[in-house]
Amino acid sequence: MIRVVGADGGIRHGHDDIGRGPTTIGGDRAVAGNPLSFSSMAHQSSMTVKSILMNIVCVLIIAPIVAGLIVWGAWTMADINSPPGLAPDIPLPSATTTSSIIRPAPHIPVSGRTVYMANCAKCHGVTGDGNGTEQLDRPARSFLAGGFSFGNTNQAIRRVVQHGIAGTPMPGFVGVLNRPSIDAVVAYVRKLSPPTIDADTSAATYYVDDRPVVIRGALPARGEWEDPQPRGILIGGTDGLTVAYDSDDVRLRTVRQGAFVRRTDWEGRGGTELEPLGQLIHFPGAAPPFTKNGRPIKASLRGTAITGTTAAIRYTLPGVEIEETAAAATHGTLPGYRRTLWLTGNATGIELAVPLSSTPEPLGRGGQYDWWIGGQDIVGIRGGQPGAASVHLPTDGTIDILVLPGADPAAARQAGVPLLEEAS
Ligand code: HEC
Repeated sequence: MIRVVGADGGIRHGHDDIGRGPTTIGGDRAVAGNPLSFSSMAHQSSMTVKSILMNIVCVLIIAPIVAGLIVWGAWTMADINSPPGLAPDIPLPSATTTSSIIRPAPHIPVSGRTVYMANCAKCHGVTGDGNGTEQLDRPARSFLAGGFSFGNTNQAIRRVVQHGIAGTPMPGFVGVLNRPSIDAVVAYVRKLSPPTIDADTSAATYYVDDRPVVIRGALPARGEWEDPQPRGILIGGTDGLTVAYDSDDVRLRTVRQGAFVRRTDWEGRGGTELEPLGQLIHFPGAAPPFTKNGRPIKASLRGTAITGTTAAIRYTLPGVEIEETAAAATHGTLPGYRRTLWLTGNATGIELAVPLSSTPEPLGRGGQYDWWIGGQDIVGIRGGQPGAASVHLPTDGTIDILVLPGADPAAARQAGVPLLEEAS
């Protein structure tokens, strides 16, 4: 694993200015191997006929009984778990105030296995092999096979368990399990997987630890129709979300979840592209993000700022200053992300396009949000005046844009999104 220790220009911890290119980066490497050892089986050759017979008896009679007991035990535990009832758009409970499904007695430490059996086994399988009883549109991860695509550190796995994986059936447990239960189940699934080493030492891979990271550089094209963006900004949050913007007009390019970014040019002058590593969860479409009287208006970048664990990007539109943050968010347990825009000044008459990759179809209001659907994604916006495919910004104040990528319609309906029942 490579950890970036000192950075200048390319990585920002704190305020930064506009237009500074990436420069050199110092790093150190620590790769730990953990070779498996195979114990010798040679002593088997000295087995007597009697001991072989004893073994057969054990295998044929005792083993099935033990296996039956294990399966029965796991089955009854998995049954306790029905997903928590979702109330439509109530303020989401936070992990610290919500009791978990398994409420531990004060002095009994939480058992990761118990939390796992109650909340995860139905999809990931009792043994962690990925074969649960739940019917899913894709396989849940096999923990026995290792290879966590979102990273296998405690922190990476915890992010996935807290926030879910947008666009997949993997739910976010932040409102369901308390922190000790999440930590316990993370340790449990981590132990199920074989030890791995990070073989990729050819390029500089950046990780986000306990502070967000802002990195500037060229971003790859998102499709054949596009040229690479020479001046991009990537903001990596401590929740595993990576938000990419164009520097020129502060347009949101993509939102990813998972690992942060690799740079192959770290000895060069910053001309080659950054390689964002997370899984693409949202692509906001090509419509200009802001318009006034039907005409696009261009934002100009002020800079980025990190306060505690929050990174913000600041920009101006004619008459108004905007500070924007993005974070992983769940609606009920549906995984997604939320952008919040704080406006100061006068935003009267400015419209924000609903960030969907195909024409947004309005769904109406549910809870405090106005909702749209487009392609596979659902967007809820609160704080603005809804139009057909855009909202009028409030004069000042805040506006929240909640994106639920690839949300399953039935689950979204259950979470309070006003979707019509499908005619069958
Ligand atoms: C409703 C089914 C479901 C439940 C319940 C569920 N998962 Fe998942 N989980 C999935 C699916 C599906 C994926 C694979 C998503 C993908 O395609 O990337 C996944 C992926 C993951 C990953 C990502 C591994 C990686 O690639 O990095 C982790 C970690 C994980 N689950 C942990 C848990 C834990 C811990 C629980 C219980 C607290 C849990 N899951 C409950 C369906 C589920």
